[in-house]
Order: sequence, then C-alpha cells, then structure tokens
Amino acid sequence: MRFAIFASGSGSNFQKIVESHYQNPKVEFVFLFTDQKQAYAIQRAKMLGVPVKVAQPKDFPVRLEYEKYLVELCQEAKVDYILLAGYMRIIGSPLLNAYANRIINIHPSLLPDFPGRTGIADAYNAGVTETGVTVHLVDEGIDTGPILAQEKVTIDEGDTLADLETKIHQIEHQLYPRVVGQLIEEGKRYDTSIN
Ligand code: GRF
Repeated sequence: MRFAIFASGSGSNFQKIVESHYQNPKVEFVFLFTDQKQAYAIQRAKMLGVPVKVAQPKDFPVRLEYEKYLVELCQEAKVDYILLAGYMRIIGSPLLNAYANRIINIHPSLLPDFPGRTGIADAYNAGVTETGVTVHLVDEGIDTGPILAQEKVTIDEGDTLADLETKIHQIEHQLYPRVVGQLIEEGKRYDTSIN
C-alpha cells in the first residue's frame, strides 16, 4: 500500500505515522508533499528518508493547474492513499475525484463540533469540558467527510490552551497511526491508473 502524506507545518503526525509503519513490508511512504518551503516537516522527512515534493499554487498560472499537478504527482507515483497531516489547504475537485474516499484527514476536535483551522482554540474558548480528535475521509466540505475514528480528550479545570494542545497532540499521535494500521491490515489496494 502506497501512501503520500501532505503537510504544511511541523509534521509531527507525519513522523508518527511513518515511524509506526515504515518497517511493514506492505507499506511504502512514497513522498511527503508540502506547500510550504519552510515547513519543519521537510526536516523530518529527510531524517526519515522520505522523499519530499514541494509546490505552491502561486507556482502555477491558475489554481486548477496546481490541483492537476497534485493528481499527476500522486498517480505517477501510484499512490493508493493520501494522508493529510496538517495540510492547511482545501482539497480541490481534481484530487477529490481522482482519490474519492482515499484521502484521509486528522482534525483536532470531535467533529462535527469545531471544524476549521482553529479547532483546539475554538473548543477551549467555548468552555466545553470535552473535545477530542477525529480521523475522517475527506469530501468537498471543510472537515465534513465520513468519520473513521474519534477519541475524546477532557478539558480539566485549570488547563491552559497550551495544556489542551499537548493533550490533543498526544492523542493524535496514537490515533492516526492506528487508523492507518487498520487500513493496511484491511489490505485495500486500488489501481490508480484507471482514474
Ligand atoms: C494537527 O493538530 C492536526 O490535527 C491538524 O493540524 C495539526 C498538524 O500538526 N490538522 P503536525 O504538523 O502534525 O505537528
């Protein structure tokens, strides 16, 4: 099973997924894709020996060309699944169509509560006592696709926002590799060449 991982920032989830599964002979992490030249995820990829691809919409005359480039990149590399790990862009229809139900995202809240870029802070500021982490399939909405797995995180009295971020990331680092592991064990394999 061939995975591409998309990340825009630190890449801690990317690293945990790769570390959890790189020894599995059924698995290949084909590349890290990032839209940020300065992303720390690039350093992690180098350390892990995962090839890196970098591109930004502004490198292309129109946004659609960027989206098509991503499809080509994944299809040429015979990618089966795309894992979003802090990739801070909306996935456009070319990639959504080519990889329907084969793009997975992790979001730092209990969806459908607190979608969007600031899910941790939004839950914290709302004063809820429970939030969590969701791994879901990506569709055309923002954090709306079918849920694959969720885990709760309690917000205790006295927790700062930083405390909550730490708790959320700890759960993410277990949950995302676990969901990827299930996918690998299910053994689904798709022929991307027919897309
Ligand atoms: C995570 O909190 C993830 O849920 C969100 O973006 C963050 C990425 O963190 N989508 P990292 O780059 O994996 O450290």
